[in-house]
Amino acid sequence: MINKVVSFFALILCFSTAVFAQEYDQLVMEASNSLLASDYQVALELYQQAFQTEEGNTFDLYNAACAAALCENSDLAFIYLEIAFNSNLIETQWLEEDMDLLNLHSDNRWFSLIASMEVRADSLLASLPEDHPEGPLVVLPQPRLSSDVSLEEAMQNRRSVRSYADLPLTIAEVSQLLWSAYGLSYTVENAPDFLRGGLRTAPSAGALYPLELYLVARNVTDLDPGIYWYKSETHELVQIADENCWEEFSNAGFNQLHFETAAAAIVYSAVFERCTEIYGDRGRERYVCMDLGHSAENVYLQAYALEIGTCAIGAFSDLALKQVIRMTRAEVPLYIMPLGKV
Ligand SMILES: Cc1cc2nc3c(=O)[nH]c(=O)nc-3n(C[C@H](O)[C@H](O)[C@H](O)COP(=O)(O)O)c2cc1C
Repeated sequence: MINKVVSFFALILCFSTAVFAQEYDQLVMEASNSLLASDYQVALELYQQAFQTEEGNTFDLYNAACAAALCENSDLAFIYLEIAFNSNLIETQWLEEDMDLLNLHSDNRWFSLIASMEVRADSLLASLPEDHPEGPLVVLPQPRLSSDVSLEEAMQNRRSVRSYADLPLTIAEVSQLLWSAYGLSYTVENAPDFLRGGLRTAPSAGALYPLELYLVARNVTDLDPGIYWYKSETHELVQIADENCWEEFSNAGFNQLHFETAAAAIVYSAVFERCTEIYGDRGRERYVCMDLGHSAENVYLQAYALEIGTCAIGAFSDLALKQVIRMTRAEVPLYIMPLGKV
């Protein structure tokens, strides 16, 4: 898992136009490259130097622990894992499946670390609500159905954008993006419950619509900063949190570059059971994520047409994201799509 996360970050660093003037950023970038190149000792030394200049973030501490474990320096690996674990929520599955940490598996400290992580995860999951709360409603402006930008142009030019202009988004823009992601496009009278109102802008296996969408607003005109659940059947937002949770949110997404400048973000989750009840493993292994891809691509194309940048983010702490978004217990977080003017 960590290697995949590292790869994402290597990509981010390659594509990013940001100048990494800061010593910390420079050092962890070099450390992560050394880790990828299997220069574990060099990677570890670079991480140590970086942490002398600045407090390490969860992601870097985790990678430093990997480097230490690969250098058979278990003491240091456990110290880094402990700090990473105390500063953020990490899934035990990550640790258990991460071959970089294999050297630690026979150490007694490993079992107590995993056990304490599991206790923390269980208590967090138990604290999540069963249903979405009935918070204040925000009626979204109706979406427009025409544009000056052709579909072909949007497909040709769409890119993942990781830095955004310091400008607010309008409520009409976020409304348009949410509608393109999962809004109703065909209302069905007396629709069965599972359909929740009708057919949507994105296709879904068996029209089961397993996805849930949230908006995290940071700088949106006519919308208070906070967290909102998108009620797609009525094209409304239900306010779940009214405080600015951006810092916690960014932390859950390992403080990737996007969070520095984005004005808002769409967060996707799925209730897998909606799909697996009918399709079993095929639903779990294929259909839910296929549905996600259809919807997220709509967001990419619509964002391009609105001169808004976005990027699909799959690397985050599931537990931390569930907690900050206040997802219901049954949901599995899948994507973060930050949004900001290009
Ligand atoms: C499943 C998935 C997960 C991704 N996760 C991340 C991520 O965590 N961070 C990031 O910056 N980009 C992420 N991306 C964006 C890819 O890096 C990007 O799509 C790829 O580099 C191709 O660039 P393009 O989208 O501009 O064509 C992800 C993309 C996909 C499809």
